Amino acid sequence: MPQKSREPRSSAPVPKYPSAGSLAVSSRPRLFIGFRGEGQQRAAEIASRLAARQMSGRALSAAGLVKGCHMHKVAVIVGSIRKDSINKKLAGALAKLAEGKLAFDYVKIDDLPLFNQDNETSPTPEVTRNKAQIAAADGLLFLTPEHNRSIPAAMKNAIDWATRPHGTSAFRGKPGAIIGASRGGIATAIAQSHLRVILAGHLVATLGTPEAHVQFKDGLIDDSGNVTDETTKKFLQGFVDNFVKLVAAIAR
Ligand code: FNR
Repeated sequence: MPQKSREPRSSAPVPKYPSAGSLAVSSRPRLFIGFRGEGQQRAAEIASRLAARQMSGRALSAAGLVKGCHMHKVAVIVGSIRKDSINKKLAGALAKLAEGKLAFDYVKIDDLPLFNQDNETSPTPEVTRNKAQIAAADGLLFLTPEHNRSIPAAMKNAIDWATRPHGTSAFRGKPGAIIGASRGGIATAIAQSHLRVILAGHLVATLGTPEAHVQFKDGLIDDSGNVTDETTKKFLQGFVDNFVKLVAAIAR
């Protein structure tokens, strides 16, 4: 079960992303898509394809038609590199809850060398790949396990590479969200708090509420990424929706 440790600080609405045009894609449920730059021509193109095929929002997303629209891309960094990671499972569940709202772009961190400042100006292709991937994202989503009351070494290593050399941080100024799963009672709270401090140093605007410390139990997330407990699902949906608003408010 998630543990919500803080009440919302403010009920002030988060500003909406300004769009050049919008389109009602289907009547039930209604899905509105806003356009950046491409405007009315793109709207007309998609409208005619939808009218012909009666596509749902999910099919629209799967078909890649939302590219160029304002579904923002989020670089997803999972701090666990083990195969059966519960944090990877949680990422899959969040991706499902964010369908049609955010595009998840997973960052691979298990093939990076150990950070050594001697090599920061001659990075390996894997390091360069990650920096470019993160720099191209509209937002950052971190899923952190807790290892010895902090973030795992693999995650710290990935962060160190992404933020060096000095002045070239790929994170700078992006909106971010932090979440973590553990089987323990306090469920990643300390690791998350360390991560928040690290990210503040790179001007990452992290989602303040809700804090999401997920205490993982077997069966909480099924093999298809569905959250089986309704209370947890509702909580995670709220987390995703707040992050969508934060990204929309900050990303350009
Ligand atoms: C842990 N674990 C752990 N859990 C916790 O809640 N607080 C902690 O400080 C630690 N410390 C810790 C250290 C090390 C080295 C390991 C390997 C594990 C347990 C940890 O939360 C558990 O293994 C999770 O399953 C890790 O997440 P992934 O890898 O399944 O995503």
